[in-house]
Amino acid sequence: MDKFVIKGGNPLVGEVEIGGAKNAALAILTAAIMTDEPVTVENIPDVSDINVLLEAISVIGATTERIDRHTVRINGSTIGSISVDYEFIKKIRASYYLLGALLGKYKRAEVPLPGGCNIGSRPIDQHLKGFRALGATVEIRHGVIVASAENLHGAHIFMDMVSVGATINIMMAAALAQGNTIIENAAREPHVVDTANFLNSMGANIKGAGTDVIRIRGVEKLHRSSYAIVPDMIEAGTYMFAAAATKGDVLVKNVIPKHLEAMTAKLVEIGCDVEEFDDAVRITAKHRLGRTHVKTLPYPGFPTDMQPQISVVLGLAEGTSIVTESIFENRFKYVDELARMGASIKVEGNTAIIDGIATLTGARINAPDLRAGAALVIAGLAAEGITVVEDIVYIERGYEDFDKKLRLLGAEIEKVTEEREIQKFRLRVG
Ligand code: UD1
Repeated sequence: MDKFVIKGGNPLVGEVEIGGAKNAALAILTAAIMTDEPVTVENIPDVSDINVLLEAISVIGATTERIDRHTVRINGSTIGSISVDYEFIKKIRASYYLLGALLGKYKRAEVPLPGGCNIGSRPIDQHLKGFRALGATVEIRHGVIVASAENLHGAHIFMDMVSVGATINIMMAAALAQGNTIIENAAREPHVVDTANFLNSMGANIKGAGTDVIRIRGVEKLHRSSYAIVPDMIEAGTYMFAAAATKGDVLVKNVIPKHLEAMTAKLVEIGCDVEEFDDAVRITAKHRLGRTHVKTLPYPGFPTDMQPQISVVLGLAEGTSIVTESIFENRFKYVDELARMGASIKVEGNTAIIDGIATLTGARINAPDLRAGAALVIAGLAAEGITVVEDIVYIERGYEDFDKKLRLLGAEIEKVTEEREIQKFRLRVG
């Protein structure tokens, strides 16, 4: 099993280039099968979640052709099946976007019901409620969601909670329904907007994405398109907080600073300097940082996908901070790993009370999920001595070249497989 071995203590200094947004790419690559004409998607991150999704798409018959590391051409005209294998849903929940895409295009889709995951139970009732409102019959049979309709029609849908996945899934199906759909209490995340922009580039008629009311006028069919994915705000945020944790000075390039505002505001509040440029932000942390409180919220609030990373930074800040997780029920699993590095964090329900300490010490720890894994790497970069982060398959689901990009910023980090490579690393770094 691959691991990261890290010698902490170096401030991160330099420039890092951010790739395309994984969560936007998952939705957009799925939506690309909704036309029978070729679609080219650029700025795709080369991470395992995307590669699994592309495989799921090709297994139902769509043609996927990798033009270069970050560009894929997809042709949905060759699709021969509307039934998605459980293997894909198990590996990557977002394959459920195939429900909305296939239902919209073929008026029938069969996708296994995803189970819970490492950050808690994750129901998809809002997705199904939306499909039913559009006129589909939706049943669960033998663990599979079977959705079908004679005709999909527009509907006025009120979401019970803000859900990125449900908003995108319903938007895809409604793009090819007859008549007008209104989604109220829609998610406003940049990847919802990016997916709407992409669908519009294929001829859909979607207005209001980025606000909490999305209006969709159904069209008969979609056409060819060429599209580039937006930068990944979570990848960017991860490097911003890595700079903060290591008292570094990092220029995070190829970002949309507006998407980073919730994170920027917190970094400024705890004492970092943040300079914004047109498509970059520079984070400088000169002193030990201060405490704050933070609550995760749907966009434009502080993202739940940045909760572990900010907790690591606050674990090293002066004073007591409170972090409240309001989106997922079980997103503090990494706290036990941080405790092994000396952090003083007490979790009560969905709240973590963090007493900042001056230094963490390196230890052997496990990545419990994607974002927590990245946060533990940040902890290792800031800690005294050697940290080994195991189960980095989770991290590789969403971060392209994580170790390479960190090395370019001066980090001492290596990806290793064998125990003896860890020993070698120890000898080399002293
Ligand atoms: C997406 C992101 C994920 C991020 C999350 C919140 C992707 C592929 N993943 O996940 O990285 O952490 O947004 O920003 O884009 N809920 C229900 N019923 C539903 C749908 C959601 O109860 O039908 C609940 C969920 O359990 C959760 C909350 O609503 O508590 C938000 O979930 P949602 O926005 O749907 O997250 P995802 O789209 O799964």
